[in-house]
Amino acid sequence: MNWDNQRCLLTGASGGIGQALATALAEKGVSLILVGRNSMKLHELAGRLPGEHDVICADLSCVRERTALVTKVAELGGLTMLVNNAGVSHLSMLEDTSSTTIESLIETNLVAPMLLTQALLPLLQQDKPTQIVNIGSAFGSIGFAGQSAYCASKFGLRGFTESLMRELADSNIRVSYLAPRATATAINSELANAMNEALGNQVDMPSVVAQHFIELLEGGQSRAFIGFPERLFVKINGAFPSLVDKALLKKLPIIKRFIAPTFQEKRL
Ligand SMILES: NC(=O)c1ccc[n+]([C@@H]2O[C@H](COP(=O)([O-])OP(=O)(O)OC[C@H]3O[C@@H](n4cnc5c(N)ncnc54)[C@H](OP(=O)(O)O)[C@@H]3O)[C@@H](O)[C@H]2O)c1
Repeated sequence: MNWDNQRCLLTGASGGIGQALATALAEKGVSLILVGRNSMKLHELAGRLPGEHDVICADLSCVRERTALVTKVAELGGLTMLVNNAGVSHLSMLEDTSSTTIESLIETNLVAPMLLTQALLPLLQQDKPTQIVNIGSAFGSIGFAGQSAYCASKFGLRGFTESLMRELADSNIRVSYLAPRATATAINSELANAMNEALGNQVDMPSVVAQHFIELLEGGQSRAFIGFPERLFVKINGAFPSLVDKALLKKLPIIKRFIAPTFQEKRL
């Protein structure tokens, strides 16, 4: 990986993982286009990073704002790197999840990165190697009770990444996928944090994700799954899913205790 003259558009830059990725990239000398909806947070971040960076505010789930973003990127002279990191999550049993929540989660986590990538492909400078990195999740490989919409979106993102990676394999664009496990950021509600603790799930700091992100780029890896035993579960779930079905069945009462009191009440 040659870090010279890199220009990266980073979505979700104002979030926990986004800020850590922005810091790691800026420290490598990368010039960033920081994207999110919160102008104040993005400008504050730009101000404390080393180097010169641009800020573009856009709600990625809005077609008009996405189109305006692409126009501004063209005016800024294109990119050498795109990191699709913006995302939202939601914890509830499917029965308790509104159709609006399902639609907006799939829109933000899957449809928006696909359409943004498609629109930005012509702006990725292909005279030298360029990068697209999609930030997935361990839940993009392991279906988890209470997270069906989130898992569906991240399974979709993983499929999109793999497909695009193979579609562009003979080009100068390298496509890769980084799957964090639970990470200490605002995406996790207090309930999610309490549930993670009860389930014995390890929680990483965002800086750990940033470190793996840099290793993925520098090592030229196509895929990386952060953390043990999550990395092993991803492999077992792929090869022998019924083993993981059994292991997760034991966790179901704990998950329901946290996220489905109404669900349980209805069945008493
Ligand atoms: N934290 C974890 O446990 C964990 C684990 C595995 C994977 N991940 C993945 O890591 C990525 C980053 O998450 P995080 O943990 O850093 O969460 P976070 O702190 O909540 O940050 C989410 C970021 O996404 C942006 N965003 C959300 N919806 C958007 C929209 N419609 N348009 C534009 N920007 C939008 C937010 O921007 P605003 O400032 O505008 O809200 C924010 O910058 C996500 O894809 C997430 O699924 C996280």
